[in-house]
This record gives sequence, C-alpha cells and structure tokens, in this order.
Amino acid sequence: MKKLGVAVIGAGFWGRNHARVFKELKETELLAVCDVNFERAKDVAKQFDTTPYVSVEKMLKREEIEAVSICTWSTNLAKMALKALNKGKHVLVEKPMATNTRQAEKLLKTAEKEDLHLIVGFLMRFIPGLQHIKRAIENKEMGEIVCATAKRVSQWPERIGDVGVIKDTAIHDIDVMRYLFGEDPIAVYAKTGSMAHKKFEDYAQIMLTFKGGKSAFIESNWLTPYKTRLLTVTGSKAIMKLDYITQELTIEDAKETLQPRYPWQEPLKLELQHFANCILKKEKPLITGVDGLKALQIAEAALKSSATGKVIRLK
Ligand SMILES: NC(=O)c1ccc[n+]([C@@H]2O[C@H](COP(=O)([O-])OP(=O)(O)OC[C@H]3O[C@@H](n4cnc5c(N)ncnc54)[C@H](O)[C@@H]3O)[C@@H](O)[C@H]2O)c1
Repeated sequence: MKKLGVAVIGAGFWGRNHARVFKELKETELLAVCDVNFERAKDVAKQFDTTPYVSVEKMLKREEIEAVSICTWSTNLAKMALKALNKGKHVLVEKPMATNTRQAEKLLKTAEKEDLHLIVGFLMRFIPGLQHIKRAIENKEMGEIVCATAKRVSQWPERIGDVGVIKDTAIHDIDVMRYLFGEDPIAVYAKTGSMAHKKFEDYAQIMLTFKGGKSAFIESNWLTPYKTRLLTVTGSKAIMKLDYITQELTIEDAKETLQPRYPWQEPLKLELQHFANCILKKEKPLITGVDGLKALQIAEAALKSSATGKVIRLK
C-alpha cells in the first residue's frame, strides 16, 4: 500500500506525539519534523528516525511531503497552516486552528481554492464513547435531548501562554456540543475571569442555547488541581455520561445503569489515521475547517458576552 508522506511543524509536547503516531501508523511515512527551536526538532527527529528542519520553507519544498500537521504555539498555527496550504500540502491544524476568525476564514478559502484537506485537531470526536453518544442521539435512543454539560478543569499547563482557557481548552467542548446537537447554537452567554493568569482568562462558564430551548453548559478552568474531563448528556429517556480520561461511558435509564465497554483507544492515533485515509482512501472528513471556524466564532462570542455582560446572538 502506498504510504502518505507526512511532516510535523512544531516539535513540542504535542508535536512529539504527532511524530510518534505518524511513525507508528501503517498509512504514513514520517519524512520530517520542523521547529524554530532546532534542538527540539533534532531531538524529536532522532527519536523517530526522520529529518529535522528549522526552516519551514525549506521543508515544505520537498514534494514527497503531501500532508503536514501543525502543532506550533496557538498564535502561530494559522500562519504555518497557510504556508503549508500554499505549498500544496494537506493540513491537519491543531486546535484552536487560529487566534481569530479572520485568520480561520483565510485558511478555509485557501484550502478550498487549492482543493486540499483542512482538518482541525478536535480530538474528542475520536473517543469511542463520544461516537456511541452521537449514534444514540441520532437513533433517538435517549429520547429528546434536553441539555448537555461539560467539565474540563485542571491546573494551568504552563507551556500554553498565548491564548486563554476558552480558545485553548473550552474550544474542545464547544466543538463537541455543536457535533452532538448537530446544529449551531443561536446564542451564547458566558462569565469568565482570571484568578492566577495575568494576560488571559483562566476560568470560564459558557452557556450555549440551541433552537427549541435545548442548551449546553461548559465549565473550564486552569485552576483546579485535580484534572477532570467529563460530559453528561441528558435526554428525556436516558442520561449518558462520558469520562474522557478513562473513556468510561455510563448510561442510566428508567430500568438500569449500563457501562458498555469499549477497548481504550488512543484518540490521536484514530485522528491521524483518519486524516491519512481522507487523502489516501478519500474518506469523508469527520471534521473540516468549517468546524474550526464555527468553534472560534462561538469562542469569540463567549469572550464578548463576558466582557459586555450580555447574551450574544449568533447569526
Ligand atoms: N488536540 C489536543 O488535544 C491538543 C493537545 C495538546 C496541544 N494541542 C495544541 O497543540 C499546539 C502545541 O501545543 P504544545 O503543548 O505542544 O506546545 P509546546 O509549547 O510544547 O510546543 C510548541 C512548539 O512549537 C514550536 N514553534 C512555535 N512556533 C513555530 C513556528 N512558527 N514554526 C515551527 N515551530 C514553531 C515551539 O518552538 C515549540 O517547540 C497548541 O496549539 C495546542 O493548542 C492540542
């Protein structure tokens, strides 16, 4: 089988994981890693037996590199993704994809013009329990959906210092809510603040309202010492709870409490395999640039709501 030639831009904590997974997958051949910190690029390249670069331009000239994942600091994601798209590479860009919607729109236009895949790293979608909940909603196994709540709290990962907790962390749950409800919220109300962080908000409570009165509540912070990542979806016939860390799913209905067991799977592996198969086997992308743009629009509305104290209506 032909392997897809891939490279990673940004060889920090998360980029190293991308490099490892690309090395492990049978679908991909890791041809290069690049980092502005050349020592890091060399270290990761040595670990996974590939070529290090400090110059993105030089690396992107290599024609056998067909796809890249972008794992730089959040404030550099859009710039690097644009460079890669302009060089004809398919792109998986980490969340939050860009620091603002204007940059995200530019990426979408470029990918469309160049007929390239642009996928955003919304990892949660690849967790088997979340796929179970999505199917249960579609098949009406839970009755009508009333609301969903998400809790994603932990201490501040100090390496993240260029965006706040909404664009870095809550954005995962914003995407999950859009995905599960199968539609975009019509309004956003949020309260945010900063207790320990100087430049950006480090806690946020966000309420999304959907058509027909359904709602979602997202709690996220970089303050709580104990790492928690939970989702609860409440339907008229059942409640489903997912622990993203253990991947345990619990279903409660009038008769019983069930815990369907899915073998633990590495979401990043499933995500990067899907990215490769979108290119190699023309699989339909589960996530597109539009999902990244919409999540950013909602994140910006949440920040605006918190700053103004008003409900922000979305078009
Ligand atoms: N989807 C997920 O679940 C998930 C998890 C962790 C991180 N992330 C995302 O991945 C990105 C990286 O996070 P991290 O934790 O690895 O950060 P990090 O600080 O550990 O690594 C970022 C690396 O990018 C390099 N870099 C910055 N600008 C660059 C540029 N223009 N060209 C080349 N290299 C550049 C830095 O030198 C650094 O080595 C962030 O955007 C973060 O939001 C996503």
